[in-house]
Amino acid sequence: SILKKIIKGIPKAELHLHIEGSFEPELMFEIANRNAIALDYDSIESLKKAYKFNNLQEFLDIYYIGAQVLLHEQDFYDLTWAYLQKVHSENVVHVEIFFDPQTHTDRGVPFEVVINGIHKALENAEEKLNMSYKLIMSYLRHLSEEAAFETLEASLPFKHWIDGVGLDSSELGNPPSKFINVFKASADHGYKLVAHAGEEGPSDYIWEALDLLKVVRLDHGNRCLEDDALVQRLLDENIPLTLCPLSNLELKVIQKMEDHPVAKMLEKGILATIHSDDPAYFGGYMNENYYQTAKALDLDKNQLQQMAMNAFEASWLSAEAKEKHI
Ligand code: ADE
Ligand code: ZN
Repeated sequence: SILKKIIKGIPKAELHLHIEGSFEPELMFEIANRNAIALDYDSIESLKKAYKFNNLQEFLDIYYIGAQVLLHEQDFYDLTWAYLQKVHSENVVHVEIFFDPQTHTDRGVPFEVVINGIHKALENAEEKLNMSYKLIMSYLRHLSEEAAFETLEASLPFKHWIDGVGLDSSELGNPPSKFINVFKASADHGYKLVAHAGEEGPSDYIWEALDLLKVVRLDHGNRCLEDDALVQRLLDENIPLTLCPLSNLELKVIQKMEDHPVAKMLEKGILATIHSDDPAYFGGYMNENYYQTAKALDLDKNQLQQMAMNAFEASWLSAEAKEKHI
């Protein structure tokens, strides 16, 4: 279709992607086999059938199980490289991806095994696919702040490979305020700060991410529209929101794509962008997110280009590097 061609033709930046959420069932079974780990599902089909979620937690429960087959540097390399090749084919030219160290270190996989594999794949994409990248380490918010501090410590030998820290996992009941100290310490080590907020959680959590954690960008932020003063704050400080339409639909943050808030946000002048979150679980990578959103909200070419431009503006690329991509 013409719409699909337009979307593919736009150079894009992905700013909200959990690398563990790009783990396709085929690769999961391949790695499980070579690591002699039994998955709870006896086939790719039965695994895919389990991908029906009523909320964030139901998804997370399956997402953490899938990640358990990742043991060796090669596994993390293969996972990351598969994602990078896939989005390269969609004309994504820049990525800022999350990884969840604690999902692996808590199983006894050393931090360095995880980051070595991911970093090598990112370097390869820069060299072979002409892509640029940033890497963001996410703290799991269902765990304690103390555990996040241990992760911060473990990251320090690899600080030169990590651009920022984020906050993900179960949002309700785990407000940003739980992580004030570790975010402050992370900033002192030179990390940039982002956090998931306002996906399922209330607009209060978005205020906390801004005022208490001092993030420079918000992941999701859907529920900001409930609060006019908050919208004004986002506008005044030009705070980017990285939205994930297919994720929102699959996790029942919205009931149908027509309800997605991104069009309203763009109308208000918010620096809103769209991304894929966990594409292997939610049924689509970047272009499918653009496509489904454009169709449901009747976005025109200018609005699609605006969203793509917003992502470069919201990115951590230097002004010079941005120019090269757009
Ligand atoms: N981890 C992976 N995907 C996530 C999401 N959409 N929200 C919170 N944590 C996540
Ligand atoms: Zn996310």
